[in-house]
Amino acid sequence: MRILYAADYNEMSRKAANLIAAQVILKPDCVLGLATGSSPLGTYKCLIEGYEKGDLDFSRCSAANLDEYCGLTKDNDQSYAYFMYENLFKHINIDMANTNIPDGTNADAEAECKRYDAAVAALGGVDIQLLGIGHNGHIGFNEPADSFAKGTHCVALTQRTIDANTRFFARREDVPTHAYTMGIKTIMSAKKILLIASGAEKAPIIYEMAAGPIVPSVPASVLQLHNDVTIVADAAALSVLLEKAPELVEGAPKA
Ligand code: GLP
Repeated sequence: MRILYAADYNEMSRKAANLIAAQVILKPDCVLGLATGSSPLGTYKCLIEGYEKGDLDFSRCSAANLDEYCGLTKDNDQSYAYFMYENLFKHINIDMANTNIPDGTNADAEAECKRYDAAVAALGGVDIQLLGIGHNGHIGFNEPADSFAKGTHCVALTQRTIDANTRFFARREDVPTHAYTMGIKTIMSAKKILLIASGAEKAPIIYEMAAGPIVPSVPASVLQLHNDVTIVADAAALSVLLEKAPELVEGAPKA
């Protein structure tokens, strides 16, 4: 696991976008594993700029998203399908037919999870998987659990995650309680993983993820077992790690 220092959110976003851009340039028909949340917004802005400048061509890329809320239609402005279209896809030249996201409206969880696993497998796997991290260490929507879930599955969101998501919904009762998410095995099958984190509230979990034991109660800790993981985090998100294990962080200014 390499942990790269960024001064702030903007620098984190530029560094992450540069790593994704390198993948797109080196393999124009690559499979991008994409994420939602506030963390990747700046990264997507930088990728859009790269496309607008003529530096990046997404026409041969495919995309597979991590997760989707159950019960939300694609045109619901809180669905992850809507998020991806509004914040990335509509601004670049990716073919929408090559974008994949679980279908939150499919009430048959078993069928939907099977379909999504098959769709990702048909792409030949993910070349670079972008991840954010939840305060409790969740990746995608793999919540803390007693064991690591493998393939795409339906999860009951924890109260902490529901609370964190409430800010995006008009009414508390509108916040979905379940989601479909790629499993840990699917995420770990990506050739490269790029996790981004920003802000002091992520600092304790970044420390646990990188320096703590590998346990399903901190789902992101499993990333320590992958051989090509890059974390790009800003100074605030790295603050605990910099205090307790500064040798794990590359590029931080000397104290
Ligand atoms: C949601 C998403 C995750 C994301 C997390 C953190 O739970 N399913 O993929 O990493 O939120 O979001 P943020 O980046 O807004 O802190």
